[in-house]
Formats: sequence, C-alpha cells, structure tokens
Amino acid sequence: MSEFDEKAATWDDYPDRIKRAEVIASRLASAVNLTVIKTAMEYGSGTGLMSFALKDDIREITLMDDSAEMTKVARQKIIDQKVTNLIAVHGDLLKGPLRNERFDFIFIVLTLHHIGDVEELLRKFHNLLSPKGQLAIIDLEKEDGSFHDDPFHGHKGFERSDLENRLNYAGFVPAYYEVCYHIEKETEKGIREYPVFLMVAEKK
Ligand SMILES: C[S@@+](CC[C@H](N)C(=O)[O-])C[C@H]1O[C@@H](n2cnc3c(N)ncnc32)[C@H](O)[C@@H]1O
Repeated sequence: MSEFDEKAATWDDYPDRIKRAEVIASRLASAVNLTVIKTAMEYGSGTGLMSFALKDDIREITLMDDSAEMTKVARQKIIDQKVTNLIAVHGDLLKGPLRNERFDFIFIVLTLHHIGDVEELLRKFHNLLSPKGQLAIIDLEKEDGSFHDDPFHGHKGFERSDLENRLNYAGFVPAYYEVCYHIEKETEKGIREYPVFLMVAEKK
C-alpha cells in the first residue's frame, strides 16, 4: 500500500484541503477560459477535490491517480453525488502505454513535486493535449525541504524559471504565473507558510 493509499479514506476530513481546492479552482477559473474546454484531465487527482470544485465549469473531466484507494474514494463520491461529467481512472502515465484520448486541458495540483521524472511527464501531457491545448500546474514554490516529513524523495517545490525551461523543452509556451494560495503548516520551526503557484502553459 502506498503512502497515498493509506491516506485516501480520511483525505477529505481536513477542511483546509477542501477550502484550498475551492480557492485554487476559483483562481484557475479566472486564469483560463474554462467554458471553451470540452475535455479535461486532472492528473494526480487524489479524491477529486479540485475536479469536484470545477465540475460546474468544465464539461467533462477525467481524473487519473496511481493510488487505487484514492481512485476508489473519488469514484464513490461521483456515485454518491450522482455526478455525470467526472470519471475516475486508476493509472500512472509514466508506466502505462500512451492513451488514445486527447484533452483540451490538463491540470495537476500538488502532485508534480512527487513525480521523479518531471520532463517525461510533461512530454506525456504534451502528447495527450489537443493542438493549442493548455496545461495548468499548481504546486509549491521552491522550499527548504521542511514541507514534507522524512523520508521524502520528491522535489522541494519548483523555481519559476526552471519550470519554464522544462516546459519550453517539452514543447510548451508558459503563458501565466501567479501565487494563488499559501499553505499554512506546523513544522519543527513553528507555523510556516508555503506559497503555491499556478502556472499555465500552452502547447506549441
Ligand atoms: C499531495 S496528493 C494531491 C491530491 C490532490 N491533487 C489534492 O490536491 O487533493 C498527490 C497525489 O498524486 C498522486 N500521485 C503521486 N504520484 C503519481 C503518479 N506517478 N501518477 C499518478 N498519480 C500520482 C498520489 O496518489 C496523490 O493522490
């Protein structure tokens, strides 16, 4: 069982996570014209907090996560709330073959810093997007490593210029950047605030 499998059943019990998804969703809706999007994918969707917050703004969203338990929780919420425009899929784009679908929009929330091969995932996103498709990355700005408890093997947030270079290399044009949220967290050094950015890039 993965770390996220273990957290899935109680993931939505924290009101700050729900508030965070709602605030970020509203920032995203201001930065991207969601009304023209026909198909979207949320990658690393967890229990679907962000997609649920956007379900009335986007016609159809595929949620994908490599945690079977997170996917199970998302699916149950879709059934319980009788939502017809969200579908939850268990999968890892880095392991499976390329999917046939094309999406107008892909968004990824606080997941990229858990991905070892960021370049490869950006290339996969590029392949999955329709011409002129858009990618929104929401993640931590560069931090000192105090955000996660040990052992953590991911990235300590991202520097804007570094991520822009990686996006360019993968075939995207970075188009928008803002700090859209601050996560407050109790650390060994007291309560800290971690800025979260929203970056939007267009497929070249
Ligand atoms: C910090 S959680 C964020 C969940 C959700 N986006 C949210 O904001 O509530 C990171 C999520 O990414 C998923 N994840 C991690 N590595 C992944 C991968 N290689 N492929 C797909 N999902 C992954 C985890 O299972 C987890 O659900």
